[in-house]
Amino acid sequence: MNYTTRRKFLAALASAGAAGLSGLLWRRGLAFAAADPTGQFTNRLRLPGASGLYSAVAAKDVKQLTVRELDFEILPKLPSPFLAYAAEAGGKRLLNPTLLARPGDRIKLRMINRLKQPTIVHWHGLTNDERNDGFGNYQVGPGKYFDYDFTVRDRAANYWYHPHPHDIAGEQAYKGLAGLLIVKDDDEEKLARALDLTLGVTDIPLVIQDRSFNFEGKLEYKLSREQMFMGFLGEEILVNLTARPYFDAASRIYRFRILNGSNARSYRLAFTQGTRLLDYYLIGTDGGLLEQPFKVRESFIGAAQRLDVLLDLRAATGNEPVFLKSLAFDPMHNESVDEKTGKPAAGAAQGGADPHAAHAAPGAIADGTEMALLRINIKPSPGYKREIPSQLSRLPKLAAAAGEPRRFALGHDGKGNWNINGWRFNMHETPVSVQLGTRETWLLRNNRASMPHPMHIHGFQFRVLERRDSPAQVKALATRQNGLLPQDMGLLDTVLVWPGESVRIALDFTHPFSGDQTYMFHCHNLEHEDTGMMIGYKVKA
Ligand code: C2O
Ligand code: CU
Ligand code: CU
Repeated sequence: MNYTTRRKFLAALASAGAAGLSGLLWRRGLAFAAADPTGQFTNRLRLPGASGLYSAVAAKDVKQLTVRELDFEILPKLPSPFLAYAAEAGGKRLLNPTLLARPGDRIKLRMINRLKQPTIVHWHGLTNDERNDGFGNYQVGPGKYFDYDFTVRDRAANYWYHPHPHDIAGEQAYKGLAGLLIVKDDDEEKLARALDLTLGVTDIPLVIQDRSFNFEGKLEYKLSREQMFMGFLGEEILVNLTARPYFDAASRIYRFRILNGSNARSYRLAFTQGTRLLDYYLIGTDGGLLEQPFKVRESFIGAAQRLDVLLDLRAATGNEPVFLKSLAFDPMHNESVDEKTGKPAAGAAQGGADPHAAHAAPGAIADGTEMALLRINIKPSPGYKREIPSQLSRLPKLAAAAGEPRRFALGHDGKGNWNINGWRFNMHETPVSVQLGTRETWLLRNNRASMPHPMHIHGFQFRVLERRDSPAQVKALATRQNGLLPQDMGLLDTVLVWPGESVRIALDFTHPFSGDQTYMFHCHNLEHEDTGMMIGYKVKA
């Protein structure tokens, strides 16, 4: 037992009810899981089924999403208060449904707020007018509702939906509110036929989130000032809200649609068998399929990003399970270095002597720790003979803008507040205006005295043109010109910008909406977003 578990254990002894005791047993397991991942992954991975959590349903059949609190057993037999998007469709009751759509579909639904706080649903990654985009300016109070009515105009891809109220998006998402919106088109169906993929069976969404629990197994979201500054890091990594999950697979090709739904944590994703790293194929990003599959062994994924991958389990040997892991990496919490010299700043306001260790809550898994996320058991499947197609899709042509980029510096004020160009969020201001129909290059430069920031733009998917001054662990994965990573080949709505790094992105501010539209540009570390690392920008008609 580490310090926290011990402290909680002692606290629990004083008030041990039955739930408390099984919570404690669970917690004892946590301590062992970190040391030895094998044998601990005994909970079946939750998958989108016919009803209940994540069940897949045509988005146009969902007329109401009710945001409510309920009890949900994240940890086995330990119900926790949980926030969910509840829906009914075809006589079935769904929680955080996996919404399915095709380009051109019209989605018309009413969000009903049954929480005690304001909320609003944001459709992450979609091109919508500002009202249907859903952000804090449109939040509705308890007992109120909000009607959405929009057409899916974007490429087939793995989008998602989550809350976006002012200041409390992190807490609401943490407590359960998040779902996938999967848009499919002919390219998608061609791929599914070629590889014989079925959603929920061999085509598996994986939502990765880190969480902490109290000794009764109830979700805990308490932030110190330090954690407010760093972002929340949990004690347990959940995949599809399953702690220490396993998945029974056959020796064939699987598709994993991976969403990093964590509030703040980044992962360095790899599939391992024993000490061996397995090859896998990156086939898509935030904005849909790449043109060709790209072979990789590891990829970073920042909060809110999606990676769509194929794993060929015929490449695994013997009966040993395969693990989806996050490999160790340097989390680069450099908040307290001097911007010019790169040395620790004298009297730094945050971080103290050891910036890597100082911020984590007791018990939280430190950022960058190697850890297993999912155990994959393999049964032989000799009949499977499919091969990954060489062509997947076509990307819209990359048309970069001429001229100087618009510059955005990511940093903090030394007093515990992150900002963008020194701006902090003010709902009455839009410090940036762009002209409808124009192309722009944005240069996102992260200060050296910083941490990685997953920067997200509402309203448009973008392309990455160049990465400069990337840290060594990122540069090592660059496979293309201009320091680009494999995932930079696709359309993105969120890009992870590392300390000291400069990332140039190409945006095309073309959309069909008349009138000025306001959108958000922010860090998707949700604690950063909630504390003001966000600006509004206007697309002028
Ligand atoms: Cu996924 Cu502004 O958010
Ligand atoms: Cu978004
Ligand atoms: Cu940030």
